Amino acid sequence: MAPSPRDHEPLADTPTHTPNDDANAVERGVWSSKLGFILAASGSAIGLGNIVFFASNAYQFGGGAFYLPYFIALFVLGIPVMIAEFSMGTMTGRSFPMALSRLVGKKGEFVGWWSLASALFITMYYVAILGWALCMMVGALGGLLEPGATAPFAPFAEPSATPSATAYFFGLLASWWPLLAVLAVWGVTLLALWKGTETIEKTVRIAVPLMWLFMLVLIVRGVTLPGGTDGVMYLFTPDLAGISQPDVWKGAFSQMFFSLSLGLGTMTAYASYLPKDSDQVNNSFMVSLLNCGFEYIAGIAIFAMLFAFSLNPVGGTLSLSFFAIPQGISEFPFFVKTFGFAFFLLVVMAGVTSAISLVEGMASAIIDKTGTSRATALTMVAVPGVIGSIITTLPFIVDPNLGGNGTVGLNFLDILDHWAFSYSLLTVGLIECVLLGWVFGADKLRAFVNQNAKLKLGVWFEVLLKYVIPVILFTVIVWNLYLDLFGGALYGTAFPLGPVDWFPVVIPIVWIGGTLALAAYLTSRPSAEEPTEPAVAAFEN
Ligand code: PHE
Repeated sequence: MAPSPRDHEPLADTPTHTPNDDANAVERGVWSSKLGFILAASGSAIGLGNIVFFASNAYQFGGGAFYLPYFIALFVLGIPVMIAEFSMGTMTGRSFPMALSRLVGKKGEFVGWWSLASALFITMYYVAILGWALCMMVGALGGLLEPGATAPFAPFAEPSATPSATAYFFGLLASWWPLLAVLAVWGVTLLALWKGTETIEKTVRIAVPLMWLFMLVLIVRGVTLPGGTDGVMYLFTPDLAGISQPDVWKGAFSQMFFSLSLGLGTMTAYASYLPKDSDQVNNSFMVSLLNCGFEYIAGIAIFAMLFAFSLNPVGGTLSLSFFAIPQGISEFPFFVKTFGFAFFLLVVMAGVTSAISLVEGMASAIIDKTGTSRATALTMVAVPGVIGSIITTLPFIVDPNLGGNGTVGLNFLDILDHWAFSYSLLTVGLIECVLLGWVFGADKLRAFVNQNAKLKLGVWFEVLLKYVIPVILFTVIVWNLYLDLFGGALYGTAFPLGPVDWFPVVIPIVWIGGTLALAAYLTSRPSAEEPTEPAVAAFEN
């Protein structure tokens, strides 16, 4: 019954409305304008996913085989789920777990916390990657793109005869620099979150336009390289044989969820700072198209460079952006250092605006649940987050021989990413669609959205939410789980892990056990505001 505190309807008609609610809305924060929100939400969406992961997924799954499922995923899954996540925020004026709690009760809250617990794990290694990117950015001005040089204080790296981004990167991993860099990234992220929407907006107003500018420069550079257009052809020529592989579809769907920042509570948190009468159809289209537009531009620039310099990124997800791209840049005829610096600055800016949203999703949920101050909530997220990022980058757990495969931290990241990235986002997406579609009611959600949308959602939206999306996600999840558990070796066992050969078994168990336990604990804690009945009736039309 409880209406949202952001409700613009007359207060007298809303008996369960507590007097503080409107003050509370202002305290929680509001975006100063629609532009501020669009910049923040697209800044969240555009991140490592668009530059680092998209290109490497598209490469791994064979360019043309990837982008068709990806395009389908955008319209069938991405935009509808984003409409749902945005609407939850505006409908309730609450971030993810408490929004779900208001709409469908405790079971929803549990799912919300579970997704945020996974977000915490993901943030740990997301920031670690950003730390490495920051080091590479500084390195671009120093020795990264020059022959012979290795990363500063890199005790294990051999100086290379030609510029070698790979040697530089592993040299870096064996040094203490990434630790400092990770602390710097966390510091900037927390500063940007210090005053909530006010400081977030200030940050994205600078970072997001700059990101676009840098990317446009890179694409012009990429496609004007001799042979660059071959890469563009590779990316866009449909490959029908590849499309029949289940892996390609899982890859495309997970990538879509991650890229649009879905399933981790961030979009609901950001939308909870919007007025209740916002047009969420319009917002969702704008944010997703900005995100995917950026992704394609990044894909074109990166593939053009790969083909122009005949680079073959072997190895894991990171090798494309961290080894192949700087390698290509080092062969530019001019402005090598400037381009190298700009590329990694772009990665860092894109990533920081996403990390901000990941942390905000968690912090705002803690504030909504406990009523604590922003500083306390940020500390509660930052302490485990910083520890996790440090574990991922610790130099002294480096494989002493650097057997070519990198560090324990890199393996930790890879295995955790496999489970959290592939399963948690899609599972949350599945459950939230079922809860909203069947428990809250797809018809009520559609009616709410349509009240303020210029482009009205048809019945197709209800069909997608109730049947199509759950069936697709369920199939993909179960199929992949089956392949993971019974299809041969457990993920991660293919690499020699030495003393940490228990990683592939223990990491998924700790992740799933840890996140479920944390979610159960947080759900069981008393809420600062009294639990409301599901807000279903408030939106009866
Ligand atoms: N969308 C971000 C990216 O592409 C990652 C992210 C996921 C951020 C979920 C927030 C929430 O890198």
